[in-house]
Amino acid sequence: MAVNQMTAQNPGTTHGRDQAADTPLMMLTYRSRATSPLSETQLGDLQHTAAARNRAEGITGMMVYNDDRIFQWLEGPPASIARIWSSISRDPRHADIEALSMQTAPSRLFSRWSLKLTTGPADPLIGEMTAATMSSTNAAAERLAALAIAAEPTEARLLLHAAYAEFRSIAALTELLIEPAARALGDLWAEDDCGEYEVTLGLCRLQTFLREVATDSMQQQIAHPLVVLVAPLPGEIHMLGATLDAEALWQAGHDTRVRFPSTERALERIVATKWFDAIDLSLSPAFSREHRIERMRHIVDSVRRASKNPALVVITGGRAFYDRTASSDDVHAHTSSTSAAHLPATVARVLKKHA
Ligand SMILES: Cc1cc2nc3c(=O)[nH]c(=O)nc-3n(C[C@H](O)[C@H](O)[C@H](O)COP(=O)(O)O)c2cc1C
Repeated sequence: MAVNQMTAQNPGTTHGRDQAADTPLMMLTYRSRATSPLSETQLGDLQHTAAARNRAEGITGMMVYNDDRIFQWLEGPPASIARIWSSISRDPRHADIEALSMQTAPSRLFSRWSLKLTTGPADPLIGEMTAATMSSTNAAAERLAALAIAAEPTEARLLLHAAYAEFRSIAALTELLIEPAARALGDLWAEDDCGEYEVTLGLCRLQTFLREVATDSMQQQIAHPLVVLVAPLPGEIHMLGATLDAEALWQAGHDTRVRFPSTERALERIVATKWFDAIDLSLSPAFSREHRIERMRHIVDSVRRASKNPALVVITGGRAFYDRTASSDDVHAHTSSTSAAHLPATVARVLKKHA
């Protein structure tokens, strides 16, 4: 099949918004899967509307659609990227959305296209680009991880505050910087570049700095808020995942309760005495915790048995689920989340399915 290319060209080859040398340019890539196959007409409509908004936002980029799989590359001013990303990541037309990289870029690769769309088998250039992007390191997140375990964490705090000033979005900050930094801390430990204590310290600092920047975050008002319990798995000392999940669910308008039960029994008591629509149980965002998967399954089973709500929806999260070394089936959960940024949409989808 021939490569079918539809392009939305920009009127000129320049973009006013990043002409000034001091305006940073950000590039973001992600992959996802269409929730149901997109016809050529649907793709054309999507491209038409998206390209118009990209043009207004000073964004250029490309999207590959092949066999329901989606890969997109976006480049533009950080605040515009954060706004568009917030819309894209909430869009029900695709799922399993996974940000691959976010970094500053010296120049645009797709300066002529508001959104270049390629369908059919991706050409080798795109394959190469995807591979390069996936293996490229997220420099900002790695830097944040290193700064978070420095003797004096002021620079880490400044970096996080500066990133928030650009994104103005906790969801973007979470998915593009904090969660990758947590994984980078785990990688530093795996490579023997720091100890377990430092990873825990770094995660605590990220959590503290997140709380500082999130003080002005607003809660959306929604018609039917869900009652959601957010907790780290009893015995899990890394609380960052639960904190990020709780923030995302709260912002999305849900009645969010965060608890830190130290034992399985304590967790059972919580779900037995209060009605919850869903529970979000998390493992470390830094370590893969392979040895805790079996215990998690056991706890999920006992929580379900103890729950006041017999149809309690169970969602699990943590590095194990991001890396796919464990699946929701392994722990008897309804689903697992790979980023707090997508958790509210995931909870709503699962609850709708099981209603
Ligand atoms: C795979 C995919 C790629 C998309 N790419 C873009 C894009 O590059 N720019 C854009 O403005 N919208 C894009 N959209 C559409 C947005 O998700 C969203 O519908 C649109 O921007 C309107 O935003 P709103 O829902 O926040 O009002 C894309 C949607 C999908 C499913």
